[in-house]
Amino acid sequence: MRDLTYIRELFSKEDEVLQSIPNGLAERGMPQISIPPEVGRTLYLLAKISGATRILELGTLGGYSTICLARALPSTGKCFTIELNAEHARFAKENISRANLDEQVTVIVGDASEQLEKLAQSGERFDFFFIDADKPNFDHYLEKAISLAAPNAVIAMDN
Ligand SMILES: C[S@@+](CC[C@H](N)C(=O)[O-])C[C@H]1O[C@@H](n2cnc3c(N)ncnc32)[C@H](O)[C@@H]1O
Repeated sequence: MRDLTYIRELFSKEDEVLQSIPNGLAERGMPQISIPPEVGRTLYLLAKISGATRILELGTLGGYSTICLARALPSTGKCFTIELNAEHARFAKENISRANLDEQVTVIVGDASEQLEKLAQSGERFDFFFIDADKPNFDHYLEKAISLAAPNAVIAMDN
């Protein structure tokens, strides 16, 4: 059996907002499929080290990964996150507000493929991507992310 207690205490301590998300998902009957704390910390570090200023995430759920990513941004940075399920998006917005990240995060409610197309049409560019929506479309999302990528962009995918 894996014991992650040591690494979580040392590397990925959560604040009250992140800690509350799993219970909030359970209370609402939403799936418990947020990234775990150590992956959140890894994403934070990847975004921070890469100097990301415009982040695009696919698959928001309760906003756990969104908050980890947005916290790596400079004060002028922006994070856009796309979520198909309006209830998930609503809960994510609550958590993003509680984390004082309203200024930096925009939650887009809609299908990732359609929204990626719109972003491409308006000439948007991003320097960090986190792909964590419906798994069967990951190949397609990767192709789209490459077409929206600024030079030296980082593309991270979960699973
Ligand atoms: C694994 S969860 C995201 C977890 C989140 N990134 C985190 O770690 O906190 C996947 C999310 O993708 C959403 N989703 C599924 N299909 C989608 C689609 N076609 N477009 C956008 N979001 C989608 C689901 O509703 C779900 O909330």
